[in-house]
Amino acid sequence: METKLSIAIDGPAAAGKSTVAKIVAEKLSYIYIDTGAMYRALTYKAIVNHLNLESESSLLETLLSIDIKLIPSEKGQLVYINQQDVTHEIRSSEVTNSVSIVSKHQKVREEMVKRQQAFADNGGVVMDGRDIGTHVLPDAKVKVFLLASVEERAFRRHTENLQKGFPSNLEKLQEEIARRDKIDSEREIAPLKKADDAVEIDATSLTIPEVVEKIMALVEERAGSV
Ligand code: CDP
Ligand code: CDP
Repeated sequence: METKLSIAIDGPAAAGKSTVAKIVAEKLSYIYIDTGAMYRALTYKAIVNHLNLESESSLLETLLSIDIKLIPSEKGQLVYINQQDVTHEIRSSEVTNSVSIVSKHQKVREEMVKRQQAFADNGGVVMDGRDIGTHVLPDAKVKVFLLASVEERAFRRHTENLQKGFPSNLEKLQEEIARRDKIDSEREIAPLKKADDAVEIDATSLTIPEVVEKIMALVEERAGSV
């Protein structure tokens, strides 16, 4: 029987993690878990409920009261809070600009990590986020740290927004991405950081298929060694 690996893809905002993770998961018939969507879902709920985002206990209480579901579909991954489809709502700029505050809290992270590990229980998973290789799947056979310059990442998000018909300001996007990266990498609990055994891929001047090819080569190499 073929060995099912766990694949961890971490990196800063808009490096291309979810795009390549989805393609790699499809190629391998693995499940794809977007852990950022889980933090975004909690942030959305916290905003709707007017919670104080600095209050760890109210965030945890809210998290424990909701089921966050990630459902694959032809249109991409759908995100549900209980029975409510929040796929679009969690991408709003309000959520994007608050999510790094919500995800700083230790108890919130502990609960999220527990849920993420349960999703990945049987292997055959591609998971992307900030702390997957370092905390969520420390034994993953394939760990990638995906990077790109902040200018390139902001430009890609800007292009994506325009394609979707959303308003977009390149300079503002670059500032927001840099601010979020700073909070994510400087927080005390599970900061964004390359795992010692992760392979760094700088995708600043790589296309999506080129990044996918590099990851698939790693998967083949590691699959041969288990
Ligand atoms: O897609 P994008 O890079 O904009 O962000 P995301 O992957 O949706 O993650 C949103 C935010 O959730 C990040 O900026 C982190 O603050 C937080 N996050 C985290 O702390 N740990 C993870 N494993 C995933 C996301
Ligand atoms: O998940 P993460 O926030 O790391 O990034 P993403 O949402 O997958 O990608 C951000 C944007 O960059 C998307 O519009 C991709 O199509 C685009 N892109 C990429 O992901 N990788 C490249 N090598 C080139 C462009």
